[in-house]
Amino acid sequence: MNLNDELIATITAEALAALAAVDTIEELDERFPSIVGKRSAFASMQKSFGSLDPEQRRELGARLQDARRAVEASVELRRIDLRAAARTTMLEADRLDLGDVVVASQSWAVTLGHAGLVGSTQAELEDVFVAMGFTVADGPEVESDWYNFEALNIPPAHPARGMWDTFYVDLGEPETVVLRTHTSPTQIHLMESAVANDSLPIHSVAPGRCYRRDTPDARHLAAFHQIEGLVVDHHITFADLAGTIETFTRAYFGPDIESRLRPAFFPFTEPSAEFEITCTICHGAGCRTCSNTGWIELGGCGMIDPAVFESVGVDPDRWSGFAFGFGIDRCAQMRHELSDMRALIENDVRFLGQFA
Ligand code: PHE
Repeated sequence: MNLNDELIATITAEALAALAAVDTIEELDERFPSIVGKRSAFASMQKSFGSLDPEQRRELGARLQDARRAVEASVELRRIDLRAAARTTMLEADRLDLGDVVVASQSWAVTLGHAGLVGSTQAELEDVFVAMGFTVADGPEVESDWYNFEALNIPPAHPARGMWDTFYVDLGEPETVVLRTHTSPTQIHLMESAVANDSLPIHSVAPGRCYRRDTPDARHLAAFHQIEGLVVDHHITFADLAGTIETFTRAYFGPDIESRLRPAFFPFTEPSAEFEITCTICHGAGCRTCSNTGWIELGGCGMIDPAVFESVGVDPDRWSGFAFGFGIDRCAQMRHELSDMRALIENDVRFLGQFA
């Protein structure tokens, strides 16, 4: 190797060593001129070629240029590495451990969410009925007039429709569509599919949301929840209905709450009854919530009217049955002694937090 090649090899090695000693992008930018730039050994050697003859200058110049390009390529690779390292350091520094934040800030108590009162009441009611041998069914909240009224023996313009202040979704032809005013249309769905699948008898409950054009007060909400019960079997009597209501009341409210049935009218049951329990707020003494009667109405019930069996194709000579329907919100209210049901929808966390 001649002297010039040796010199090129040396300044290349020195440039690479200087490059290896650089730790940051800023340092690289600062030292770049002295490593391969204008102030580098490459530049000074280039300048010294001025005294050489053109042939030699070209040849040596090309070799020096190759060496310089190789160092420049290393500089670029190093720059990529340093940039990646800088980014990692930055991300590491910016990382926020939310667990640390919560622990560090002692004024925060960690609070977990929990099921709402209506939802957990519904689940408990379902459990009580499942334990009594019922299955749990479901039905649509938007119903045709036929399911909500007609099949339940409430023909169009029948005065009994006034019992339910209805939200209409569509008054059009061929069908009027409503937000269901009660869970009773699930009776129709259950019987229709049992007939279609030849799967009678039925022992089902169907909980869900209902809607009425009511002004909310201490005992009513415009969007509320009911649970419907339907039993269709052989030789079902009113005593089975009364026994079922009584068993449910004691299982859910406890042994000191009494239930009573009072004669009532519903177009879809005959005979019909209203089902009441001792007011749990005043224990029967009379208060604002029970309008001083000592009793709270939970819902209605009765033996399935033959006209309803007829509308779904169940033979009333072979089958009999009962149905009941009552308010889930009302159960929550009575069980937890809420003087005003509107608390259920106000979402005041001080109220909600009591039911965690
Ligand atoms: N659907 C009735 C109501 O909401 C209650 C009921 C259900 C009555 C089943 C009898 C039988 O008022």
